[in-house]
Amino acid sequence: MAIHKKRLLGEFKRAINFGRRHLEDIFIFQNFSGNLYRKRILEHAETLPPLCSEDSALVKQLRQDGVAITSCNDLAINSTPLFLEFAYKIKEKLSREKPGNVFKELFLLASPSLVSNHSEIFLWGLNEKFLNIAETYLELPVAYHGMYFHRDFANVKPAKSKLWHRDMEDYRSLKIIVYLNDIYDESCGPMQFIPKSMGEKALKKLGRNYGYIEDSLMQSLIPSHSWQSCLGPEQTVILMDTAQLFHRGKVPRSADRFAIFFDYTSRYPKRPYYCKSSLPKEKMLSLASGLSDQQIKALFWRDVVD
Ligand SMILES: [Fe+2]
Repeated sequence: MAIHKKRLLGEFKRAINFGRRHLEDIFIFQNFSGNLYRKRILEHAETLPPLCSEDSALVKQLRQDGVAITSCNDLAINSTPLFLEFAYKIKEKLSREKPGNVFKELFLLASPSLVSNHSEIFLWGLNEKFLNIAETYLELPVAYHGMYFHRDFANVKPAKSKLWHRDMEDYRSLKIIVYLNDIYDESCGPMQFIPKSMGEKALKKLGRNYGYIEDSLMQSLIPSHSWQSCLGPEQTVILMDTAQLFHRGKVPRSADRFAIFFDYTSRYPKRPYYCKSSLPKEKMLSLASGLSDQQIKALFWRDVVD
């Protein structure tokens, strides 16, 4: 009964959000929202944080292609050894879990309690280097929505995030993805994207009301030889604008894929009702001691009054 109620509530929320999204498509609302977005960017331009040359290069690459690839090692963040130690512990735990029905489930997520018991992983995504990169790329104060630790099952039927789509929360969204196994070819289930200029052409043909796009439709718009895969050894780090780029997680064929996703948008997202934190507020409060003002504002962005 409780599950039935939860599903009904979920359906109801989805219907409301669908209605809100279509209301926003009305020209006058869209125009107002776009103008406000551009005004905020102009106002914030003078207060963007300084970046080292390596981080500037990542932002430049993101602006050009919507994606930049680096590694845990190259990022040289002090807390990385601890982050990786706990990440591999969770990977081990998740790999031992028996999935219920892999034909229905696309992936398994580490539970909020498992994540908050290994808070070094959640807090790694809140490090100031990432916040500065995100703020410079987004050109606005940044909101951190937390992290999702994925075990993506091999050989499932593609659905939802395994199909082509763009994220809808904001004008630009930054995802930082860390692979926890080698992703050397398509059989390993890489993150894939459509090159930016081609995606813009596809968008013109699709119009506004598209959702998740099957391969056959995308193939008719953009030939599959132009689809790009993010490949690399474990501990490869991908920065991707998932609002600007059509993307998906390719279903792995050779083995389950383990990866961690960290999510960022501006603090004024276009659709705040689609934004959710990966941890409940009380868990976040328990992690907040010792954080800087910048980190607190990114984490509790809904409470910040500018
Ligand atoms: Fe996505």
